[in-house]
Amino acid sequence: MSARAKAPDAEPSTLAEVDLNDHARFAERVPHEMFALLRREDPVYWQPEPEGPGYWAITRHDDITAVAKDWRSFSSERGGSSLQDLDPDQLEARKSMIDMDPPRHNQLRALVNRDFAPRAVREFSDRIRELFDRVLDAALERREVDFVADVAAALPMRVFAEMLGAPESDHRLLVELGDRMLGQDDPEYALDPQVVEANRHLPFSNPTALEMFDFGRKLAGERRECPRDDIVTKLVEAEIDGCPLSEREYDVYFLLLAVAGNETTRHSISHGLLALIEHPDQLQRLRAEPDLIGTAAGEILRWATPVHHFRRTATRDLELRGQRIQENDKLATWYISGNFDELVFDDPQRFDVGREPNPEMTFGPGGVHFCLGAYLARLEVEIVFAELVRRVAEFELTGPVERLQSNFFNGVKRMPVRLTPA
Ligand code: HEM
Repeated sequence: MSARAKAPDAEPSTLAEVDLNDHARFAERVPHEMFALLRREDPVYWQPEPEGPGYWAITRHDDITAVAKDWRSFSSERGGSSLQDLDPDQLEARKSMIDMDPPRHNQLRALVNRDFAPRAVREFSDRIRELFDRVLDAALERREVDFVADVAAALPMRVFAEMLGAPESDHRLLVELGDRMLGQDDPEYALDPQVVEANRHLPFSNPTALEMFDFGRKLAGERRECPRDDIVTKLVEAEIDGCPLSEREYDVYFLLLAVAGNETTRHSISHGLLALIEHPDQLQRLRAEPDLIGTAAGEILRWATPVHHFRRTATRDLELRGQRIQENDKLATWYISGNFDELVFDDPQRFDVGREPNPEMTFGPGGVHFCLGAYLARLEVEIVFAELVRRVAEFELTGPVERLQSNFFNGVKRMPVRLTPA
């Protein structure tokens, strides 16, 4: 059968049929067979692009790790961390630490690193549990919920607002702005083409980014007047080599912190519940052995892999697994593939709440850009599932699960669920 005759979501059986650009292939589910084919037959694969120069797709766990750990050869700064090629002006205007190399990257990250370290984050445990219990109270009262909107999405932005020390009256606005920033590969969330056109000359095509800047600036003004022991105060008082952050640097820093943990954590929670519903034996096991919550959270995060890939750009000619990569070539490191690499994970397509060892790369494989919020996100997932298992006797899907159509986010848009209280 020719590639053309196949349904768009069908899994390819030959390399000629592989297309990682096609968001529709990610619509029904993650195309795991496509990644398995790449890992097996062409782990450093040249993926042409319809509107770009093409890129190398890196799909094996060890190669992804090697690329992430060698920032001198594989820069985040030259072309940014997204596969989309931006104008140099736009790239410069949007540049936050995730799109930078050391030493500037490390200087910026050091400003808040401690606020996201395990000890600091643990201090929020009780508050996170309290926030989630309120969310769950409301959901259990209704019984029939859209688990994504009513449960999974309700937590991450509130936790971030809490860490910022934003007053509760501002939480709703922050949650709403976070929602409006959602992934735009999916036709449902895509910006109006007229808005995109009108904003083409601006550094940010999404107007919500500007509202997020306003929110961040307002908080910055308040902390200048009245400093506290929190993240915003650290950013407004920061000096690097004797200079404070510019307004642009502050804006994009705030935006990065605001958006990086929102959609990602929500999708982890949604996928986690779906996995437990689809694997009732594993749900049973977690109920019987609540001490498994740590390994269960790790497995949920591996299974969910909410961010499929990030980009790097080669800074010199080099060879990777026999392929000749040239200076300025783009690469995409596919964490979603590394997390299911059969050379690393025993039976990777098995969902196992007791999986150990579990070297998942959901937050990146290590290296200078390893997710700043990894510990916080993991703690949220642990708390959410410990509470769900404790307080809900039965979870039942009551309609179809709608996925985000995107090759970047592994996302769930809607998931109707009936919850029966314990
Ligand atoms: C399940 C939830 C999350 C997932 C899947 C996730 C995933 C990732 C990934 C894959 C990276 C890039 C790693 C690399 O290039 O090596 C990253 C970086 C980052 N993440 Fe997360 N993240 C999550 C939650 C959060 C949270 C809660 C925050 C809190 C603010 C956060 C803040 C960041 C920041 C600031 C960076 C850039 C770090 C740097 O460039 O040094 N993330 N994240």
